[in-house]
Amino acid sequence: MNLIFLGPPGAGKGTLAAKAVEILGLPHISTGAIFRSAIAAKSPLGLKVKAIIDAGKLVDDETTIELVKERLAQADAQKGYILDGFPRTIPQAEALAGFSAVNKVVNFDIPDTGVLERLGGRRVCRKCGHNFHIIFDKPKKDGVCDHCGGEVYTRDDDREEAVAKRLEVYRSQTAPLIDFYRNKGLLIDVDARPAVDEVVINFKKAMGV
Ligand code: AP5
Repeated sequence: MNLIFLGPPGAGKGTLAAKAVEILGLPHISTGAIFRSAIAAKSPLGLKVKAIIDAGKLVDDETTIELVKERLAQADAQKGYILDGFPRTIPQAEALAGFSAVNKVVNFDIPDTGVLERLGGRRVCRKCGHNFHIIFDKPKKDGVCDHCGGEVYTRDDDREEAVAKRLEVYRSQTAPLIDFYRNKGLLIDVDARPAVDEVVINFKKAMGV
């Protein structure tokens, strides 16, 4: 099964994807996570995208499409995938249709107020990428990941100005994908407002698993 996770920044796509990996046994492919690893490694890709991502803007379509095309060609993605954060523009969605057939698109639905609360308190493990939240899901020891002992930090693009930009970019460039996929009969809406366990239940119901 080839699945896309769609939704505004901070909707909980990454958090749910980590659960969905266990439920569906599919690899989680996050373009944001790939870019953050490249930035941490100071690779040519990382150096190219760092300022763009920190400002809350989108990386150009050509770079992103090529990256996803290569990733989906890898062995683990042949049984299916959970694609989180791609596509984010209509040209990305059209390009994806040319190299992979999407089965379902899960739209995580949440108002801006919920997003601001989630992004404002998000903390992320630098080593394994696990998401924490200072109110909803605190690490047991301050600043240390429960899962791998890595350093827990605040993403540069979770600063207030960058979040405002990300929301604006989401509305203008990514939200049109909701109708794009609804018109193709692929969209499933999931209420992303409740606590994680309830969102998991909503997700399983919507997927029929
Ligand atoms: P990306 O990493 O994809 O960022 P995003 O889409 O903005 O999504 P987030 O990671 O911010 O949020 P999320 O929905 O995964 O929420 P999370 O689960 O973390 O992309 C980053 C950047 O890379 C982009 O801005 C862009 O520059 C670039 N990029 C990436 N893909 C691109 C593309 N295709 N084209 C161009 N550029 C691209 O949850 C958030 C917080 O809430 C966490 O603290 C979590 O613990 C908490 N939480 C989650 N669910 C719940 C819940 N149900 N109840 C309470 N708390 C919850």
